[in-house]
Amino acid sequence: MPAERVLEYLSANEPAALERMIAWLRIPSVSTDPAFRDETRRAAQWACEQLTAAGLDGVLHETGTKEKPGHPIVWAHHPGPKDYKGPHVLFYGHYDVQPPDPLELWESPPFEPVVKPAIPGGSGERIVARGAVDDKGQVTCFLEALRAWKETTGDIPIKLSVLIEGEEESGSANLEAYLAANKDTLSRAHVCVISDTGMPSPTQPAITYGVRGLAYTEVILHGPDQDLHSGLWGGRAPNPINELTRVLAQLHDKDRRVTLPGFYDSVQEPTGEERAAWKNLGFNAAASLKSIGLGPEADIGETGWTALEREWARPTCDINGIWGGYQGAGAKTVIASKASAKVSFRLVADQDPHAVARSFQAWLHERTPPGCRWEFHDHGGGPPATVATDSAHLRGARKALQTAADVAPVLIKSGGSIPVVGMMRSMLGLDTILMGFGLEDDRVHSPNEKFELACWRLGMRAHAMLIDEFSRFTSPDA
Ligand code: BES
Ligand code: MN
Ligand code: MN
Repeated sequence: MPAERVLEYLSANEPAALERMIAWLRIPSVSTDPAFRDETRRAAQWACEQLTAAGLDGVLHETGTKEKPGHPIVWAHHPGPKDYKGPHVLFYGHYDVQPPDPLELWESPPFEPVVKPAIPGGSGERIVARGAVDDKGQVTCFLEALRAWKETTGDIPIKLSVLIEGEEESGSANLEAYLAANKDTLSRAHVCVISDTGMPSPTQPAITYGVRGLAYTEVILHGPDQDLHSGLWGGRAPNPINELTRVLAQLHDKDRRVTLPGFYDSVQEPTGEERAAWKNLGFNAAASLKSIGLGPEADIGETGWTALEREWARPTCDINGIWGGYQGAGAKTVIASKASAKVSFRLVADQDPHAVARSFQAWLHERTPPGCRWEFHDHGGGPPATVATDSAHLRGARKALQTAADVAPVLIKSGGSIPVVGMMRSMLGLDTILMGFGLEDDRVHSPNEKFELACWRLGMRAHAMLIDEFSRFTSPDA
């Protein structure tokens, strides 16, 4: 069986694969920060070279405009064997990473990857670096699977395309235009495969069938045209920080429900069947809270739903940043002329991010404090997405994971957002398989991000087996 030889190749050649991942993680591809523009491109070129090594022609597609250039998209295509009858698979991933700040909290520098030994009773052997699990490490799972097929059998036995973007962590500003411009080519694919999510444990593989959407707005409340002495002016004129916090505090009611009018109108509640299935997953809310330094009493959120339901099936609102006034050492008795906050909403089907952002701004306008004025900056987001749980492609992925892990995968959802999933469906008519290998304690977006080697290994094996499953399909969807 060629698949067995591919799996053997992966384990025999793991040290070299690890060195390759480390080389990629060394490149600081922070897409949001212009200071890293050249490095970000270097990370794209690196991915191109890996695809070329696997026998595909990797190319860079430029994005954006002359005035506002974007980061390149890595693209590759492989026609597959002449008599191939299975699905044309579009693999998506991202090579950009979140900024590594705050740097002082890293145990080792974010772009100097280190392999750390297992901690008894804690994390397994792991690689620590920015981008380890989100998403470079996970992208190497399919890059290595492609390489292993090529090296063992001389050819990759399926038809596939690869799209690795470099702006996922900074809002995917140019992705929609790219998908629209290449719609004819891209919509020839039959299914999209993404490895950018998680699973319950290193020995419990999972397929994610839903991600939440996001609507993100920055607000500035302007008051007096200058900073004021708080003794002379306090109590006589609006203090923008007092007023902003007073308004934002009204975003949640006593049951921690979001108070925007109509916010829940289009929310599809989880079915009884789903809620029962989720209960059976044995998720331990207290243990999760303990891992972030909290006791069981901290299990709070919208009344009437479990922690898992709140993450997977309920919309939320969070203030992600709030600032204004004097922040230096010591005391300064001042009333600042303005106050700011970054406010985001996680959304579920069928909420519309644009409608939510509009409704939030209208809600703020109705509450404009006397003498003050709002300024808004929309930071984008994306729609929620749910994918098919009964397709032949998903059955193929389940079998691949079962073979790779020796355990049947579970179906889960995630509270995170991957805007491209919604775009694949609405713009290209493509369904997506979210086959991810992260863990809840991977510190995604945070200092000391890690990817456990057991998860990485499983990811490479699962992709190798997914290729095998699809190669044996007798039509694109069976
Ligand atoms: N890979 C994450 C999303 C994720 C993480 C989904 C873990 C499921 C489990 C992705 O890179 C991400 O960070 N997405 C952003 C959204 C974006 C619009 C900036 C997010 O969820 O905040
Ligand atoms: Mn990601
Ligand atoms: Mn991310």
